[in-house]
Amino acid sequence: MKQKSFYIKTFGCQMNIRDSEIMAQKLYENGYLESATIEDASLIILNTCSVRGKAEQKFFSLLGSLRKIKKQNPGLKICVAGCVAQQEGKKIIDRMKHVDLVIGTQHIYDIPRLLKKSETQKTAVNLSDIYEIPPYIPKTNISHPGSGKKPEKQFQFSRFVTIMQGCNNFCTYCVVPYTRGREVSRNVKDIVEEISLFVGSGVSEITLLGQNVNSYGRTNQVTETELPYSFANLIHEVSEIPGLKRLRFTTSNPKDLSDELIDCFARIDNLCPQFHLPVQSGSDAILKRMKRNYTIDDYLKKVDRLVSACPEIALTTDMIIGFPGETEIDFQSTMRLLERVRFHGSFSFKYSDRPGTRAAEIDSKLSEQEKGARLHIFQKRQDEISLARNRDYVGKTRTILVEHSDPTSLMGRTSTNHIVHVESGDKEIQAGDYIEVQITFGGQHALKGKLL
Ligand code: SAH
Ligand code: SF4
Ligand code: F3S
Repeated sequence: MKQKSFYIKTFGCQMNIRDSEIMAQKLYENGYLESATIEDASLIILNTCSVRGKAEQKFFSLLGSLRKIKKQNPGLKICVAGCVAQQEGKKIIDRMKHVDLVIGTQHIYDIPRLLKKSETQKTAVNLSDIYEIPPYIPKTNISHPGSGKKPEKQFQFSRFVTIMQGCNNFCTYCVVPYTRGREVSRNVKDIVEEISLFVGSGVSEITLLGQNVNSYGRTNQVTETELPYSFANLIHEVSEIPGLKRLRFTTSNPKDLSDELIDCFARIDNLCPQFHLPVQSGSDAILKRMKRNYTIDDYLKKVDRLVSACPEIALTTDMIIGFPGETEIDFQSTMRLLERVRFHGSFSFKYSDRPGTRAAEIDSKLSEQEKGARLHIFQKRQDEISLARNRDYVGKTRTILVEHSDPTSLMGRTSTNHIVHVESGDKEIQAGDYIEVQITFGGQHALKGKLL
């Protein structure tokens, strides 16, 4: 029998990257190997994102192009997983007859059984109606599928661990509560066990994942010990795992950022001084219509507390430009916030209508041109601030975790998550090492340094 092989293409956020790893793990355990190219695979999985229209279009155009590959290779199985799968379900198969299987976001753990099922039923749709995370713990430390890189080139020392699924916030622009379901926190014991397993196999940096990690533990029983159990409790517990050198997390809704969590940055050495705190807009009127449940004043107070707990903290954010009804005055408030916080970096996007969300129903939409013009102004100023921030590191000494090392180039990241390129011919240095460097140059997207 021909060797079964899979190829996973991942769109979207870190949660999808982690889900792809878990699907890969499940497939390895069932006799599949990872294919280096999409053409050679006997199973193609597209793990999709629907957060903005563009992400969804990218997926549909790739899916369309697979029709040809399937014609040449009728035995090929095509599976659609992730957030578009959850939202569109059977409509995907109606539109794209070459799809064999659609898997909702909570069914990825079940992929081997669902593949078998799709062999007997010509097309099978398995959507998530149950919102629970099975206590699945990967048995080995595998590669990052879907990153487009060959396995041997992948960075094995830093890994993601999902601590919760779903979201209960229903921000008016966002599809995530519809694609990922209600908020469910994973059992503390399973999280600790999974991280310990990673650390035991050489991983030294862990990023905890959830759509709103700050509300970890609020929504269901997460521990056999006494409730309540907060995200700050989890940070303390995880940070004590022997051998874990760097701990990060993403993402946080500012409304749930507690003083207890802020305090962790002052007390816990291996918690990295980096915080991604998506604000989405600098205007209170817009925040209200987004249903974010905080004001700019609340946000700034939290930012100030974070900075006083940990002066070197690098803050980043997400910004939606051109939410329906955003006036020039609202946009100026966003620009003022940018000047006030001077974020180290930001991910900014034009508002995109998502089907089924409340914002999609609002009439006062801005034109693509208006959104584009504001986005350009915002990004240009953010770039200047990021550059100035990066230049501030020149002359300072930082420890980097080496991600790539060969005789001509050496690259790693600081605890603040800045990329540093180092000139070095030092053969002794390998990926996974922690080394001291002195920053010699601050560029737009990265720093340069020399070995100490
Ligand atoms: N849970 C995170 C966000 C996850 S979605 C939080 O609450 O901050 C990632 C980012 O995509 C969001 O922060 C937002 O900036 C962006 N985004 C989500 N929906 C969007 C939409 N309809 N249009 C444009 N950007 C959107
Ligand atoms: Fe979306 Fe808001 Fe939930 Fe973040 S908190 S995932 S933006 S609904
Ligand atoms: Fe996209 Fe789903 Fe993540 S919509 S951003 S892949 S949770």
